[in-house]
Amino acid sequence: MSAKPPAKSLKPGGAPARRGSSRATGTREARGARGAAYDLLHSVAADNAYANLAMPGILEKARLSDRDAAFATELAYGTLRWRGLYDAILAQCVDGSIDRLDPRVLDVLRLGVHQLVSLGTPPHAAVGETVTLARQVVGDAPSRLVNAVLRRVAEGGDLPRWRDRVAPGYTTGDLAVAWSHPRWIVSALKEALATHPPDPAIANDVTADLIALLSADNDPARPTLVAKPGLFSPDELLQLPQVRPGRWSPLAGELMTGKPADLECVSGGLVGVQDEGSQLVALALANAPIEGPDRQWVDLAAGPGGKAAVLVGLAGLLGAHVTAVEPHAHRAQLVRDSLRRFPPADYSVVVADGRDALPPGSADRVLVDAPCTGLGALRRRPEARWRRTPDDLATLGPLQRDLLRSALTIVRPGGVVAYATCSPHLAETDHVIADVLAERDDVMQIDARAALPEVSHLGNGPAVRLWTHVHQTDGMFLALMKRRDPTSRSEHIHR
Ligand SMILES: C[S@@+](CC[C@H](N)C(=O)[O-])C[C@H]1O[C@@H](n2cnc3c(N)ncnc32)[C@H](O)[C@@H]1O
Repeated sequence: MSAKPPAKSLKPGGAPARRGSSRATGTREARGARGAAYDLLHSVAADNAYANLAMPGILEKARLSDRDAAFATELAYGTLRWRGLYDAILAQCVDGSIDRLDPRVLDVLRLGVHQLVSLGTPPHAAVGETVTLARQVVGDAPSRLVNAVLRRVAEGGDLPRWRDRVAPGYTTGDLAVAWSHPRWIVSALKEALATHPPDPAIANDVTADLIALLSADNDPARPTLVAKPGLFSPDELLQLPQVRPGRWSPLAGELMTGKPADLECVSGGLVGVQDEGSQLVALALANAPIEGPDRQWVDLAAGPGGKAAVLVGLAGLLGAHVTAVEPHAHRAQLVRDSLRRFPPADYSVVVADGRDALPPGSADRVLVDAPCTGLGALRRRPEARWRRTPDDLATLGPLQRDLLRSALTIVRPGGVVAYATCSPHLAETDHVIADVLAERDDVMQIDARAALPEVSHLGNGPAVRLWTHVHQTDGMFLALMKRRDPTSRSEHIHR
């Protein structure tokens, strides 16, 4: 670690904003792109908002040009992602703990650091504009602190120099700071990569893999589209000039420019927005071998209905019916919206708890896309890594096991269950499968790789793990399980 840059004493805190002062609160119109970015950080911190849900409303109110709206989004999302590293940088530039700073001042400082070290904004502009923002948001005295702290950050150099100073090594702690993830998440990702190397054929460098994964989490992903089977052909999707083919899913298209909602096929419900990893999960369930009838499919945790749309489309082509179960009424409504263009006879949406929603032995194929930490989709949710805690695993684990148990009861002998998470955490994947399979002698795990279209680097099976840094998808986990059919002799067991 280098010594703290010499400078005047900078105490956290400062004069509070004048109550009711319009200078202190500012207006979104007057504050422009930086103000909109600040407003997002504030609503994420103060109102627990989801960044991608809150940002469109903030941008609309700010009435920014497209260019400024793009800048505000990059500024806000980048700052949220890189918060961990920026706080380590700020800790070197503020006397005392940054935890003692007014949270509004801390957010303004983070925005300033992002401009200085990541966006390459010239220091005079980054510091000057951020000080103006600070004055508008919190008043004059704190803006002087912001000015002095950001000058120190600017003097400290660019991102690589700062990274060398605050996180010079390769310990879990250093990697957590350098790549801006909570330490517990870095540990969990490392354990998952070490246990299931994406390419077991080559000597595995877990640290290199881990850095590539952490780095990929910080790269914003373009929206991926899915042509809902039976409603819109993938060829039609690829004819749109702004769409290029996906990497793995035959239903996918990547949106290179613009917003999905501006496409008529998306607003019209024929095409969805869905990561390719999720598309592959739905395709694998539809493709898995079963014996006997193939008429009843179940999506046991269906909201908001992305995978349900693929399943209903594929089932409809085979004359099968899909029951989508979701306990939360507002999310069940999202499922209905997602399915609205399919023939109503092809599906039902049931508002119920998946643990006791349907009769035993009533389905041929069941998907459990379990509620999870979402650690595989951090690139799509800039604030999520800071909101999740290890305690979430203690709540989710029993629910994940119960939903899988329920699915294995609902499926009939000879039918198949897919268990999926958008997390590679071993506690949400391997451990759930091992615990539940240990309770049953009529269930076998089958090779999920065989149910997928051609995808590289799928490991040794039988479960499939997609990695953001390898597959450029969300980090999905998929296990396929079959209830043994006592009348069949051709079953291959992985235990
Ligand atoms: C990972 S999301 C599913 C995503 C969905 N399959 C898709 O592709 O759009 C998990 C869902 O499970 C729902 N859920 C939570 N508890 C549940 C329960 N006890 N039974 C069924 N679903 C539940 C959540 O509300 C959430 O909508």
